[in-house]
Amino acid sequence: MTHTAYKDQDLCCEDVPVRELAEEYGTPLYVYSKNDILTRYRSLNGAFGEQPHLVCYAVKANANPTILRLFADEGAGADVVSAGELHQALKAGFPPERIVFAGVGKREDEIEYALQQKIFAFNAESTGELQTISRIALRLNTSTRISLRINPDIDAESHPYITTGLHSNKFGIESSKALEVYRFAAGLPGLQVTGIHTHIGSQITKVEPFTATAQFVAQLVGQLRDAGIHLSHIDFGGGIGVPYRNAIRHEMLPEENGTAESMTDPADVLRSILPILQSTGCTIWVEPGRALVAEAGTLLTRVLYLKENREKKFAIVDAAMTDLIRPSLYQAYHQIVPAVLDTYEHLPMDIVGPVCETGDFFARDRVMPKVKPNDILAVLTAGAYGFALASQYNGRPRPAEVLVNGDRVRLIRPRETFEDLA
Ligand code: LLP
Repeated sequence: MTHTAYKDQDLCCEDVPVRELAEEYGTPLYVYSKNDILTRYRSLNGAFGEQPHLVCYAVKANANPTILRLFADEGAGADVVSAGELHQALKAGFPPERIVFAGVGKREDEIEYALQQKIFAFNAESTGELQTISRIALRLNTSTRISLRINPDIDAESHPYITTGLHSNKFGIESSKALEVYRFAAGLPGLQVTGIHTHIGSQITKVEPFTATAQFVAQLVGQLRDAGIHLSHIDFGGGIGVPYRNAIRHEMLPEENGTAESMTDPADVLRSILPILQSTGCTIWVEPGRALVAEAGTLLTRVLYLKENREKKFAIVDAAMTDLIRPSLYQAYHQIVPAVLDTYEHLPMDIVGPVCETGDFFARDRVMPKVKPNDILAVLTAGAYGFALASQYNGRPRPAEVLVNGDRVRLIRPRETFEDLA
């Protein structure tokens, strides 16, 4: 399904060779395929069949305004985690009744803003937060739907920094206290306690943790019903993983090794959880981020210098951890391929950026086709949590972003300038 592939020896995003994009827009550059995003959204949305549902795009994965508008126009909802994201979502055209507000630490001004905008629901995470929402709702003479985020203590088997469903994580309400907190919330004025929210982590590559969470949720919804609390919607969160290795195969590329990511197709996840959740009679909401945009995005960078320190070979490129921090932060793996394949010679090397940090790398001891200065490299599967986590550290303006649709290219965020560093 991926829309980034070689045509002969030229890497293309849809119909456009990425080396042309690097020449025209400069590097570092984020390139996204519009049709990749749309295909993934439509396939996930379609996999619900007749089940009443809403796919809420997790804005944090990639908040480019044009990309947000694509989802809004498709009829998606939005999952936001701050007043800033709520503002971005509203501006992109998501109707308030398709927006949910999650997050472990919502400030009073953020709650007030969301109440004024009449969003669909808050996903609340503590009794303190419930009291605050209730108090502000009363002051504004309004009321709101509430889902309680319950922490099911299920291991998503992902990186520790992006695992959220364990009791040792800061997220959600401990499952053993769920009934008690539901009763407490039901007694607070201004709140209609209508939902349950779970989100156990990100980059989950197996179906089992999702199935276990669905069983947990279905059981709890039944228990709550017996206690007189009737829920109408389940927000099942996001977290579906994507394959970062061997994203592209070609006879001139080395086969990538390491832990194989046996992948969870989003439709497979739905096939396993829907029959379990359907027994509750609730509307089902999901909040995918990565699964919708990661594979659509590529970060292009130019090789500046080659350097050898004893046995180590380095390719120093013009992108850095400031443009894509995932390798530095989570030891994340991204396949890196040349924009133009011109050799069968493969060498192990480190691909590093110019920032003054040893942690500024994209790959270590990576077997790659031999590169030379001025070559363009493509860091694949960079559409989620790429630009979104970019910074200006070391006085580096953030990169430009372009969206490709067939043979058409649109600049969807200009490159920052020195003025933006002020
Ligand atoms: N819903 C909630 C409540 C979340 O916290 C998240 C992600 C999502 C949905 C979307 O999860 P996704 O479908 O994208 O896995 N920066 C990290 C990922 C952090 C995820 C944070 N929460 C990374 O680059 O891997």
